[in-house]
Formats: sequence, structure tokens, C-alpha cells
Amino acid sequence: MIYKFYQQHIFPHLLNQVMQTPSLMDQRRELLLPISGQVLEIGFGTGVNLPFYQNVDTLYALEPNPDIYQLAIRRVHESAIHVQHVQASAEKLPFADNSIEHIVSTWTLCSIENLPQALTELHRVLKPSGTLHLVEHVQYQDNKTLKHLQNLLTPIQKRLADGCHLNRNIAQALLEANFSFKEQHYFDAAGIPKIGSLMLFARAEKA
Ligand SMILES: C[S@@+](CC[C@H](N)C(=O)[O-])C[C@H]1O[C@@H](n2cnc3c(N)ncnc32)[C@H](O)[C@@H]1O
Repeated sequence: MIYKFYQQHIFPHLLNQVMQTPSLMDQRRELLLPISGQVLEIGFGTGVNLPFYQNVDTLYALEPNPDIYQLAIRRVHESAIHVQHVQASAEKLPFADNSIEHIVSTWTLCSIENLPQALTELHRVLKPSGTLHLVEHVQYQDNKTLKHLQNLLTPIQKRLADGCHLNRNIAQALLEANFSFKEQHYFDAAGIPKIGSLMLFARAEKA
């Protein structure tokens, strides 16, 4: 009961704060400003990406958690973009094959329970000419100590942060799901604890 209260009433506010860390906001700007037209954003969260969609007409805001989406509503109303909330999971997207030009994921692939299934779905709905734009925290590959710690702490992190895995190799998962990279780099995000500060910034397409 206490855990349920935490999940419904405390975690969404913590998420809203942490996800506005200045170094993350800088990455959102860089990722999203070049995007125009129609976008599907998975794991829309509390809507902090909205100000960075400068040339977007329609945004499908896929967010399965109503307690989190509740905190996005004010931002949605203040936005000039047509935002359509889609209450669904990335593992089962209510969109036709090859129908979406841009898909955005910012710090969402860590939280999806069945990542391979979700990536198969993203691949299915993305147009052949389309792009998947993402920034995600990932597992260390070169630093064995941090990698081990990430494995050790992921069960606790999943409980505290709504299913978030510290130890995902997102680039590998994308390649296994038949994406290829148009752009890809790693960086260390300022203001985030070292255990989760290694980030992948990437734009991918269907291989
Ligand atoms: C760490 S938050 C990131 C929120 C937002 N993308 C941002 O950049 O601030 C992860 C988000 O993924 C959502 N999520 C979790 N499982 C999901 C799933 N299976 N499909 C789509 N979104 C999911 C959560 O509800 C949450 O909003």
C-alpha cells in the first residue's frame, strides 16, 4: 500500500524533477530541434520535450502510465502543437506498418519491460525513410566495476524508478532489432550520479 502510494503520488513528481536536469534539457534540445512533421514519442512522461518541437504539427504522445501523464496535461494545453495522448505500451503500438516518419525516445527504452518486443514494434511502424531519434542512459562496457554495480543495483532501481534498468546495452539491442545508426555518440551527463550517467545519443533507421 505504501509502495502503491509512492508509485502513484511521489514517483511522478520525482521523475518530473530529475528529467529536467539542465544537462538532459540540453540534449533534448539538440535531439529534437531538427525534427519536423509528424512524430510518435514513446514514454512521453511529463511532457518536458514539448518546448523543443519547433516544427512539429502532430505529436502522438504514447504514455501508458496515467499518474505520470497527469503531470503532462498543463504542458500539453500550453503547447501550440496538436498533441494526441495514446495510452498504450510500446510493446503493442496502435499504428499501421510503415506509417510514422519520426519516432522519439528520451530515457524510455530503459523502462520498457519487454525491450526486444518494443523495438520490433518501433521497426514495424517506422516508415522506410523514417528515423528513430533517441537519448538513453546505458550500461558501461569498458568500466567493469561500474558495469558490475549497474547489474547489482538494477533490481533496486527497477523498484524505485518504475521499471528502469541501469544495465541495458541499447545500441546492441537496436542492432539486434534490425536498426542501423545514422548518427551515434556517447557522453557523460553532468548532474547525474555516475551509475546512470553514461548516455547514448543516436539517430537510427531501418537497416
Ligand atoms: C524515465 S521516464 C522518461 C520520460 C520522458 N521520456 C522524458 O524524457 O522525460 C520513462 C517513461 O517510460 C514510460 N514507459 C514505461 N514502460 C513503457 C512502455 N512499455 N511503453 C511506453 N512507455 C513506457 C514510463 O511511464 C515513463 O513515462
